[in-house]
Amino acid sequence: MALSDYFNPKQLEVINDYLTKDFGMMILSGAVRSGKTFVDNWLFVMELRRVSKLAKERGEKHPQVILAGYSSNTIHDNVIASIENQMGLELKPDRHGHYHLYNVDIVPAYTGNSRGMSAIRGMTSYSAYVNEASLSTPEAFQEIINRCSVKGAHIICDTNPDNPQHWLKTDYIENDNPETKLLYYNFTIDDNTRLDPGYVSRLKAATPSGMFYDRMIRGLWVSGDGVVYADFDKDKMLINPDHIPSDLHYYCGVDWGFEHLGSITLWGDDQQGNTYLIKEITAQHKFIDYWVKQAKQIQDQYGKNIIFYVDSARPDNYQEFVSAGIRTVNAKKDRMAGVEAVAELMKQGLFYVNQDGYDQFLDEIYQYIWDEHTGEPIKEHDHVMDSMRYAIFNEHKKRLTTTIKSRFF
Ligand SMILES: Nc1ncnc2c1ncn2[C@@H]1O[C@H](COP(=O)(O)OP(=O)(O)OP(=O)(O)O)[C@@H](O)[C@H]1O
Ligand SMILES: [Mg+2]
Repeated sequence: MALSDYFNPKQLEVINDYLTKDFGMMILSGAVRSGKTFVDNWLFVMELRRVSKLAKERGEKHPQVILAGYSSNTIHDNVIASIENQMGLELKPDRHGHYHLYNVDIVPAYTGNSRGMSAIRGMTSYSAYVNEASLSTPEAFQEIINRCSVKGAHIICDTNPDNPQHWLKTDYIENDNPETKLLYYNFTIDDNTRLDPGYVSRLKAATPSGMFYDRMIRGLWVSGDGVVYADFDKDKMLINPDHIPSDLHYYCGVDWGFEHLGSITLWGDDQQGNTYLIKEITAQHKFIDYWVKQAKQIQDQYGKNIIFYVDSARPDNYQEFVSAGIRTVNAKKDRMAGVEAVAELMKQGLFYVNQDGYDQFLDEIYQYIWDEHTGEPIKEHDHVMDSMRYAIFNEHKKRLTTTIKSRFF
C-alpha cells in the first residue's frame, strides 16, 4: 500500500519534511478534526525508532523522551489509545506511569499545571511530543524545551489556534531565530479528506460565524472583531410568547450585582433542541432578599426543581439562595467556552427570545463586543450576557461539541 493511500496530501507533506529536513521544532496548527494528531502520532512512533537507533549508536542504555499533553486523560485518549488502535502497538504504563517502546522510556508530562511537570524535572530528553500545545502553560512548554538538550533533539507539537497574542504564536511560531529550526503547518478542516462530508457540513453549519469559524474551521490565529454574537438576528429570534411551547425544561442563570446590574434569566429547552429566553429580571441597587423573592416566584410558576446557575464570586449570596430552598449551583464561568456554547445555538437557529419577556437583553447583546486587547468579550454591558452564559453553558454541557467539552468538563 502506498503512503498516499493512508495519509492525505497535507499529512504527506509533513511526513516528507520530517524525513528530509533538518528541524528542531515542528508545529502543526489548525482546525479541529483536521488530522494533526493522527499524523503526529505516526511521527512520534517514527521518532521513537530514531531515538532508539541514535541511543544505541551513542551507547546510551536508557534513552528518554517526553510525551506531553494537557492532562493524563487527554494523553491517553489522543495519543496512547490512538497509537494502539492505529498501529496495533501495545503501550502499557509501568509502575511509574512511563510507557516503553523500542527500548525508549516515554515519560508523560501534564502541561496544564506545574505539578504535572514534576516527572520530567531534571531529565535529559531526546525528543518531545506536545499534544494541544496552546493549552500548556508557557512555563511548562519552556521546561519541555529545556529538557530536550540532546544534540539533534526534536520537539513535535500539535495545537488549535488561539488569540494572535498567545505566547505560542508570538514566542515560537513567529520566532525567526534560525537556531529554532522551526517547521510550521496550518491545517484546515478540508485538509482531512477522511472525514465524512456530511459531518463536515454539519460542523461548518454549527460553528459560530467570525472568530470561532476562522479558528475552528479555517485554523487561523485570529481575535474577535465587532459584536460577539454575530449570528444573533432580532428579526428571526425575537418571537411572540404564543409561539413558545409550554412543556419546556426550565433553568436559570444568575449574575449578582448591586452597584452594577444584577440579572436573573429564565430559560426553557424543548425536545427539538431549541432554547428560549422566557424571562429576564435585571435591576440595580437590590439586596439579596429581592433576588431570593424573584427566584421563589420563578419556582412557584415554573417548578420547584429548577436549577439556578449562579456566579460563584458571591458565596454569601449562594448560601442565601440555598437557605431559601432554591436549587443553586455555582456556574462554571469560562468565558470563551461559555460564549461559544451560546453562539453555537444562535448559528444553528436554535435560539429564541420571548419578545415580551426581556428587559436589558437587546441593549446588551448589541453592545457586547470583542476586546481587542484581551481577545475576550469586553467586561461591560455584560450582566444579562453573563447570566445567559452561566445558564446555557452549564445546562448544555452534555450537548456541547467535543472540543469544548474535552477542555472544560
Ligand atoms: N489519514 C487518515 N486516515 C484515517 N483517519 C484519519 C486520517 N487522518 C485523520 N483521521 C481521523 O480524523 C479524525 C480527526 O483527526 P485528528 O484527531 O488527528 O484531528 P486533530 O487535527 O488532531 O483535531 P483536534 O484539533 O480536534 O484535536 C480522527 O478520527 C482521525 O482518526
Ligand atoms: Mg488533536
